[in-house]
Amino acid sequence: MSTRKNPYKGPDHLTLEAKKAGYPARSVFKLEEIDKRVSLLRPGLRVLDLGAAPGSWSLYTAQRVGRAGRLLAMDLKPLEIALPPQAAALVGDALSLDNEALSMFAPYDVVLSDMAPNTTGNRLGDQTRSFDLFMRALGVASALLRVGGSFVGKIFMGGDFPLAQAETRRLFEAERNVRPEGTRTTSYEIFIVGERKREAPLTHEARSTKKEGPREGA
Ligand SMILES: C[S@@+](CC[C@H](N)C(=O)[O-])C[C@H]1O[C@@H](n2cnc3c(N)ncnc32)[C@H](O)[C@@H]1O
Repeated sequence: MSTRKNPYKGPDHLTLEAKKAGYPARSVFKLEEIDKRVSLLRPGLRVLDLGAAPGSWSLYTAQRVGRAGRLLAMDLKPLEIALPPQAAALVGDALSLDNEALSMFAPYDVVLSDMAPNTTGNRLGDQTRSFDLFMRALGVASALLRVGGSFVGKIFMGGDFPLAQAETRRLFEAERNVRPEGTRTTSYEIFIVGERKREAPLTHEARSTKKEGPREGA
């Protein structure tokens, strides 16, 4: 029998810490780190959270934006926690819902996506589905995020990753990659952050000749 530790077996210390603080999942620490690194959230902001269940990012975000802010949390599944009154939850599939259905508090200041496919063990297939979810989230940001707003989207590293980065750069003045410390060592997920949404996306030609914004290595 293998003596390697299974990183998914039983709650680890971050999961226990999250639950103790009232969050359903350890993912809250990833958003907290991104928030600190890129100054993402503050009171009064309007935020869309795609792939929100069980609800850690949503609860953290609702607390950060406060009573004057607004949050729409959506997922295929219902959230496992109650959110404060400044937040609403929507059950649905981001790949089939139209932008109108996600526009309750638009235009948004921030669009978040922690959406991830159920992993199958087929790495290429999982990466492709993750890329599709990322691109859908970017499309929602393109339609519903205000000019100057911010975007955070999860993606599994793979062959399409440079394309996801390039498309983010077309839409935002700055693009960077963040792999939070709370990410499991076995995970190949990373977050692409877009800062300061452009008034209009760069054309593909303009993007290939324009100097790129600041980036951070994974
Ligand atoms: C890593 S979990 C999100 C955790 C969440 N951010 C939190 O902090 O509690 C990924 C979520 O993406 C959701 N998801 C996957 N595909 C989706 C889709 N097509 N539309 C909406 N949600 C989706 C899954 O149901 C799952 O709850």
